[in-house]
Amino acid sequence: MISIIRLILLCAVALGFGGGAHAQQSPIERGDYLVNNIGACGNCHTPREKGMPDLSKRFAGGFQTFSEPWFVTKGSNITSDPETGIGRWSVDDLKRALTEGVRPNGVPLAPIMPFPFFKVLTAGDLDAMVAYLRSVPAIRNEVQPPVYKAAPPKEEVPGAARAMTEEELRDPVKRGFYLASLAHCMACHSRRSENEPPDFKNAWGAGGRIFRGGYGESTAANISGHKTKGLGAWSDADIRRALTDGVSRDGRKLKPPMLDYVGYYKTWTDADMTALIAWMRSIPPIE
Ligand code: HEC
Ligand code: HEC
Repeated sequence: MISIIRLILLCAVALGFGGGAHAQQSPIERGDYLVNNIGACGNCHTPREKGMPDLSKRFAGGFQTFSEPWFVTKGSNITSDPETGIGRWSVDDLKRALTEGVRPNGVPLAPIMPFPFFKVLTAGDLDAMVAYLRSVPAIRNEVQPPVYKAAPPKEEVPGAARAMTEEELRDPVKRGFYLASLAHCMACHSRRSENEPPDFKNAWGAGGRIFRGGYGESTAANISGHKTKGLGAWSDADIRRALTDGVSRDGRKLKPPMLDYVGYYKTWTDADMTALIAWMRSIPPIE
């Protein structure tokens, strides 16, 4: 009898019921999920082969170059290679880089690396992320060094300036905000162009930034609750389909870079995706 109850409980945990679902995972497993599913770190830190992430070189350095008025840079090699990666960094060095955006040598990271969002990491999740990163096999790959042109404006994400607590994550909307911060949705959806810093005050979810690539052009959508310009008239199922299948409400296939991120978001647990949508529902309408 007891074993049947235990079995049912285990199934419930496996299906992701309850905020404490990840309590069953080891820190490395939790970190793996946070890095490879929620944070989509590979989208900027993994090279590509024929347009797809090359998982044999996972985290050996990004494929794209970010060129903004303040810097020109690429996603660093974040494998444990001591020469070209972060193999010589201590646990504290990594934590500082992830949440404060400073390298061990004191040089600040370009804020295209979404560290202003990662300040929300709970103490446990920060430990887990670092444990996972330190387990990533070393790959030697020299990434073109960054060029810094000017000090970038300081970014503070409203609500994400400090570590959240496990207690807060039990509230679905707060949990959704937490996940959205790690997925840095607002880095793209609150910015009008790459030449202006994100405007979290006046453009929270407003979209408008144009991206160009081999696919042509795409414009970050308005993901606020606005009835006609945003997602105000979308059902939860419409939003879920966009995030997991990469299809807009009218059936149109979404373009990169959103489509690339969908490749990561589609593997979130059902409970996490439900929380994300609950938070999206709370984004105030904006033109
Ligand atoms: C939007 C692209 C992007 C995403 C997403 C991203 N990063 Fe980065 N990251 C960068 C760039 C670009 C740099 C280098 C910044 C510079 O040159 O100043 C960087 C730097 C770093 C560094 C410092 C390494 C070094 O040697 O400079 C670490 C560690 C890191 N990222 C880890 C992560 C982790 C972990 C995640 C996911 C939770 C992540 N990044 C998500 C773009 C990104
Ligand atoms: C790298 C930038 C980037 C990131 C990160 C990003 N998005 Fe997007 N998103 C876009 C772009 C660009 C589009 C428009 C794609 C198109 O029109 O084909 C888009 C489209 C969408 C759409 C479809 C809206 C519509 O009208 O069709 C939704 C919903 C959405 N994003 C939500 C999110 C959420 C939620 C997150 C975080 C979990 C996120 N996005 C992260 C750039 C991004």
